[in-house]
Amino acid sequence: MRILVLGSGAREHAIIASLLSENAGHEITAAPGNAGIASIVPVVAMDPTRGDVVTTYALENDIDLVVIGPEAPLVAGVADKLRQRGIAVFGPGKAAAQIEGSKTFAKRIMDEAGVPTGRAARAGTLAEAIKAIDEYGAPYVVKADGLAAGKGVLVTPDRDAAIAHAEHWLQYGAVLVEEFLAGQEVSLFLLSDGHTVLPLSPAQDYKRVFDGDEGPNTGGMGAYSPLPWLAAGFIDEVIETIALPTIHQLAAERTPFIGLLYCGLIVTRAGIKVIEFNARFGDPETQVVLPRLVTPLSGLLFAAATGGLGALARPEFSAEVAVTVVLASEGYPDDPIIGRRIQGLDTVHGVSIDHAATALVDGDFVATGGRVLSVVALGDTFAAARTKAYAALSSIQLEGGHYRTDIAEQVAQ
Ligand code: AMP
Ligand code: GLY
Repeated sequence: MRILVLGSGAREHAIIASLLSENAGHEITAAPGNAGIASIVPVVAMDPTRGDVVTTYALENDIDLVVIGPEAPLVAGVADKLRQRGIAVFGPGKAAAQIEGSKTFAKRIMDEAGVPTGRAARAGTLAEAIKAIDEYGAPYVVKADGLAAGKGVLVTPDRDAAIAHAEHWLQYGAVLVEEFLAGQEVSLFLLSDGHTVLPLSPAQDYKRVFDGDEGPNTGGMGAYSPLPWLAAGFIDEVIETIALPTIHQLAAERTPFIGLLYCGLIVTRAGIKVIEFNARFGDPETQVVLPRLVTPLSGLLFAAATGGLGALARPEFSAEVAVTVVLASEGYPDDPIIGRRIQGLDTVHGVSIDHAATALVDGDFVATGGRVLSVVALGDTFAAARTKAYAALSSIQLEGGHYRTDIAEQVAQ
């Protein structure tokens, strides 16, 4: 297959590595990619949010399947433009991508579909926000309504901080004040063709920047998969009570969801509830889910893009476990310092490195963003995988670079 992957992060690096591992002779191009991606497939300099540019490229290059990695092109309607020209695309159109792009939209869909989630109030003014903050009480959960690259959410016991967060994000639109949900978090990815879903293996992400879940929320600092502590029947319950009702609701509204429904879940004492939906593969969870996937990824993505998931069996996963640890630039998430050289990458072995934000300058990799790379290790046990991942990190040098040291610790005994 000729496949175009849009995006430039470690998630896209992992998607491409998974497609290449099929050894099926796929011709893969990434746009715009990064220096790590460019070391495994050709990249083209193209703005992935420009639907017209992407469509012209896909037509001129006989692309069989476009895989849209990040949320920005989805929310910009790139999938719609491609579909209008008959190109198979893995990724929802603009309307269905609102499940991620607007937390208010997501809450409405969940209400209509009867999907379990926390109570939430939308506030357009500071007075409304304060009223909801006081009604729900501490710990406070305040979220920007639109896309905020993982930074729009504040969970805090501090009422003043909650109000300040609301005030900040109200400059850009509405905010949502939510009931706090306590429990373990699970990221479950479901492939959808608009009518039915197939689950991938669950993962857990570490959202806070520092060990022990301290510090601000980030895009994700590490992950592991599978989750040995999950109850039997978890995946079936999510499919029945969350994923299918959501997909059916979107289909009934004539905005079918074709792509990856990312269910951000919390296992509360009152059952499984949705914290958020995303309309794409999660980052860094993808880096631990896809290396364990045994079923060829291209067939799954193409079937989802072309309405054929119903004919497929559930994807299979290896018994190996996977751990990923993200190396971030100094100052991430608030104010990352970029442009620094990354050294030692050629000395690591026994792991794979998914580049998140790198460029090649005079033959050296340099960091070009907050999350720089994901070190991914597989093993028979979490302890073994952790040992490999952290050994690799200790031989990679990035001035001021930081990473969490407790990824998957709780499952490694
Ligand atoms: P989100 O971007 O909505 O996934 O939120 C980022 C993180 O904030 C989540 O992964 C949770 O750790 C936390 N969070 C968000 N909403 C809630 C909630 N209602 N209750 C508890 N924690 C939450
Ligand atoms: N890891 C969280 C996300 O991809 O949104």
